[in-house]
Amino acid sequence: MLAIEKSGTGIPLVFLHAFPLSKTMWDASRPAYSKNFQFITVDFPGFGDSPLNAETTSMDDMADELEKTLVNAGIKEKIILAGLSMGGYASFRFYAKYPERVRSLALLSTRAAADSDASRQKRAENIALIEKEGLKPFAERMVQGLLGKTTHQTSPAIVEQVRAWILAANPKAVIAALRGMATRPDSTTVLAQISVPTFLLAGEEDTVVPASEMKEIAGKIKKADFQSLPVGHLSALEQPAAFQNAFLTFLKRRVL
Ligand code: MLT
Repeated sequence: MLAIEKSGTGIPLVFLHAFPLSKTMWDASRPAYSKNFQFITVDFPGFGDSPLNAETTSMDDMADELEKTLVNAGIKEKIILAGLSMGGYASFRFYAKYPERVRSLALLSTRAAADSDASRQKRAENIALIEKEGLKPFAERMVQGLLGKTTHQTSPAIVEQVRAWILAANPKAVIAALRGMATRPDSTTVLAQISVPTFLLAGEEDTVVPASEMKEIAGKIKKADFQSLPVGHLSALEQPAAFQNAFLTFLKRRVL
């Protein structure tokens, strides 16, 4: 079972966090969503309060665990599923397995394709680095890539917060997630099957998933609403108000 946190009432709105963070990353958004939704945040295995039971966190297992956890929490109705980056990888697998459970999707700075050979190689290097030196040098690498250049220049508190979250992670969970992302299946065939209203948000300064790739994904989904913000990879943290405004406007217009 995965650790979740719930607040508010209404349609369940489930948020899956980015790697290597935890459900805490959504805490500041809680008041904005809890007014109109049952706001549910979830920890991937080994992150935050979720136990780690395997050496690899497969995205398909994550989808199954999410379904079990929701049913166990009494959430049997259709959900709105929002996944940021790694959360998006798991959201694709959840939709592929449980399409009848999904009322709407939000795909945030994520990609449908599997890892390239170069990305797999990089993940193997990161695993070796963590095994040898712990999370510190890895956290520095990650902080550089996760946040946009504007955030680096103007918001040192956000940079520091993300660094602290990464350093607080369980190294074994980080390694298991790296293995799971490296071996995740290609979800590009899922795109044409998505029949629910789908919000896609890209960061114009994102160097992990370029905005052009998100736009391409949007072009393959029937009911897609693509938007971009002048942020890096972690839009919801870098510009929370702009992100919430864009997402809530989409939900009011296309889902409620
Ligand atoms: C994330 O933000 O979840 C990661 O950048 C995803 C990845 O490493 O592919």
